[in-house]
Amino acid sequence: MRILETDDYGSMSRKAAWIIFSQVTLKPDSVLGLATGSSPIGTYEELVRLFSSGDLDFSKVKTVNLDEYKGLGPEDPQSYRYFMNYNLFSKININQDSINIPRGEDPDASRECLRYDRVIESLGGIDLQLLGIGRNGHIGFNEPGDSFPKSTHCTALTESTIEANKRFFERVQDVPRFAYTMGIGSIMGAKSIVMVASGKAKADIVKKAFAGPITPMVPASVLQLHPCFTLVGDKEALSQL
Ligand code: F6R
Repeated sequence: MRILETDDYGSMSRKAAWIIFSQVTLKPDSVLGLATGSSPIGTYEELVRLFSSGDLDFSKVKTVNLDEYKGLGPEDPQSYRYFMNYNLFSKININQDSINIPRGEDPDASRECLRYDRVIESLGGIDLQLLGIGRNGHIGFNEPGDSFPKSTHCTALTESTIEANKRFFERVQDVPRFAYTMGIGSIMGAKSIVMVASGKAKADIVKKAFAGPITPMVPASVLQLHPCFTLVGDKEALSQL
C-alpha cells in the first residue's frame, strides 16, 4: 500500500488525476474503473483540463463505473450516469460506446448484474480503478457485512449511506434504497487502484480501513491486500493514520 499525503482537496485531486494521466499515456486503450461522489470531482476537473490543453486523449479509453442507483435511468439528474456525463464524459473525447455504467433502469437485478459482470469480463478486466470511501468504509456500494461480495450485485443501502447521500436529493425519502454495484472481486481484480479521500469526516474511517484489521465490516480494509493500491489523501483525511 502506498500513501500519498497532500495539503488539501485541490492537490489531492491533481495528484490522482496525474496517476490516471500516466496510465492513459502509457496505455491509451486503458480500461478505467470510475467512481462518483464528491471525492473524485476535482480529479475529473483536472482530467478535463489535461484533455483541453491537448495533453490527454481519451479516444481509445474504455470505462466501467462502480455503481448506479436502482430505479434511476440515465436522464435522471440524480443518476450516476448523469453525474458522469456532467462531470467528465461530456467534456472529453471519449467514445460514447466505450462508457459502461450499470443500468439502473433495469428492474431485473439478476439480469443486470450478470450483464455487467460480462461487460467487465469482455473488457479484459480493469487497468486502473478510482475509488472514494464511504463513511462506513464502503467502496462502490459494497456495504459492511459478513463477507466480501465477489461480483456485481444489488445492495440495500445502509442508513449511514442514505444519510450521507441525502445531500444530493431534495428530501431524504427521495434517496433510492437500492443500488447495483460492482463486487469486491472485480475491484480487487483491477491491476492498480487509486483511492481519493479528503476532509476530517473521512479521518476515522481511513484509520479503521488502513490501520485496522481486514474485515468485511470495513469493506475498504480489503484494499490492504491489493498489490498496487495507492491512497491519495489530504492532511485532514490522513490525520488519524
Ligand atoms: C460512488 C461510490 C461510493 C463513494 C463513497 C464516497 O460511485 O462508489 O463508494 O465513493 O460513497 O462518497 P463521497 O466521495 O461523496 O464522500
